[in-house]
Amino acid sequence: MMRSLAIAALAAVLSSSLVNADAAKCGPGSPCPADSPCCSLYGQCGVGAYCLGGCDPLFSHTLDSCVPGPTCQSQDYKLKSLDDVMAIDKYLGDASSVNWVATGTPVVYNDALLLTMAQDTVGTLLESSHYVWYGKICTKMTTSGGAGVVTAFIMMSGVRDEIDFEFIGVELQKAQSNYYSQGVTNYHNMENLTVSNTNENVHEYCVDWKPDTLTWSIDGNDMRTVKRSDTWNATSNRFDYPQTPSRIMLSLWPAGLPTNDQGTIDWAGGEISWSSPFMQNGYYYAMVEEVSVDCYDPPPMAQIKGKNSYKYTDAAGTNNTVQISDDEMILASFYATGENPKYDPNAKASGKSSSNAPKPTQETVPGMSGGGNRGNDNVSSSVSAGESATSVAGGTAAGTAAATAAATGNGGFNQGGNGNGGGNSGAASFKEARLGMGGSGFAVVVAVLGLLVI
Ligand SMILES: *[C@@H]1O[C@H](CO)[C@@H](O)[C@H](O)[C@H]1NC(C)=O
Ligand SMILES: *[C@@H]1O[C@H](CO)[C@@H](O)[C@H](O)[C@H]1NC(C)=O
Ligand SMILES: *[C@@H]1O[C@H](CO)[C@@H](O)[C@H](O)[C@H]1NC(C)=O
Ligand SMILES: *[C@@H]1O[C@H](CO)[C@@H](O)[C@H](O)[C@H]1NC(C)=O
Repeated sequence: MMRSLAIAALAAVLSSSLVNADAAKCGPGSPCPADSPCCSLYGQCGVGAYCLGGCDPLFSHTLDSCVPGPTCQSQDYKLKSLDDVMAIDKYLGDASSVNWVATGTPVVYNDALLLTMAQDTVGTLLESSHYVWYGKICTKMTTSGGAGVVTAFIMMSGVRDEIDFEFIGVELQKAQSNYYSQGVTNYHNMENLTVSNTNENVHEYCVDWKPDTLTWSIDGNDMRTVKRSDTWNATSNRFDYPQTPSRIMLSLWPAGLPTNDQGTIDWAGGEISWSSPFMQNGYYYAMVEEVSVDCYDPPPMAQIKGKNSYKYTDAAGTNNTVQISDDEMILASFYATGENPKYDPNAKASGKSSSNAPKPTQETVPGMSGGGNRGNDNVSSSVSAGESATSVAGGTAAGTAAATAAATGNGGFNQGGNGNGGGNSGAASFKEARLGMGGSGFAVVVAVLGLLVI
């Protein structure tokens, strides 16, 4: 709830400069329309990346609007470079090519990745391309200090089941553990876990997520266990227990923006300062050294029709409505959707001209815009209606578009068109570096590294 307000407040700020007032909203009782069928985590409708990770099948146009999610892969990710990270505006769903999708500006430092948050930006979000459907997920990381600064390590499903570790920058001896079912706020779910200084020490945080128990541990010590059997909700007629395929999200975001709701600012320990000793080289940072995933077997009631992807077969959004299929997971363009994954309006516009291509008017990347404008994140209505707990990530991603806009000096973030624009954002730069295309992006990364004197 606090974070829902946070995103609404953030959205209000961001939308003051660049608004696409036409972007459709989505939430309980108001699914997306047919022409922009995919509902993002942030309660906005679109195509392309809106239909990939984070797409909510329950609020999308049909259950097939969201692209099925890549299945779990047991792996130990050493985050020593950006080789395995792709900017969200480049990723079309091919999880075999990259394991992490980023919004914002991750930076390589000493065999680890920094999630950075520079002045007047809203930080960085790293999301796994693969989903996990029960498993043990661990990360070794530090968190950022500072009032109003929040670091998060979260599991999040398409239907907004959520498992959280959250770190408030003024509570460095605490990790907040939390979970949600289908985005429904429950104020009693949060518990504080005690830990030694999370900013100065690398700790290993794990979530051991089984069909019957959910355990948070730190440095190998079990700190909290929730039993599914204790979560029965007679009103919703289901266990309010995370039970659907979820992606890993690591983020750093500014909950303490003065424009946010007072409750959010208070939760985050006060307003953020942009001249804090916790900032180095111009930004706050959290350092992620490693993420490991040990996949467990799908639950007994799983509908197994393939092995590559997860999709939902019913609007209940519970574990027994998830099917493992071999359905298409890769989009042909940022205008494709789960219903029409091969759609590419530019495919026939050969060579010199793209004038036949439709104008990019639809939203294609959540938190950004296909129309050359930032998406309007006037999501207060949809978010409050959904009581979505998902706004931690929402704040990050939505805000990062503003960071991008600020960095480029305009709101233009032309997506999907061929050659007529192109973001020159921090997020884009590392992808270019990764591809080795053009020196500019690489130069940016190198320059940033050069400045690091932590
Ligand atoms: C959000 O949109 C609604 C409906 O279009 C409008 O009434 C409201 O003023 C907007 N709020 C903000 C903060 O822009
Ligand atoms: C957790 O710690 C915060 C910060 O000290 C405090 O405000 C909150 O009440 C605590 N929550 C619980 C459930 O103990
Ligand atoms: C999965 O769904 C079935 C049917 O609703 C339910 O009985 C079971 O408890 C669920 N499992 C979990 C882990 O929630
Ligand atoms: C039970 O589910 C209903 C409907 O989703 C929700 O409003 C309510 O808050 C839930 N109860 C608890 C204790 O979480």
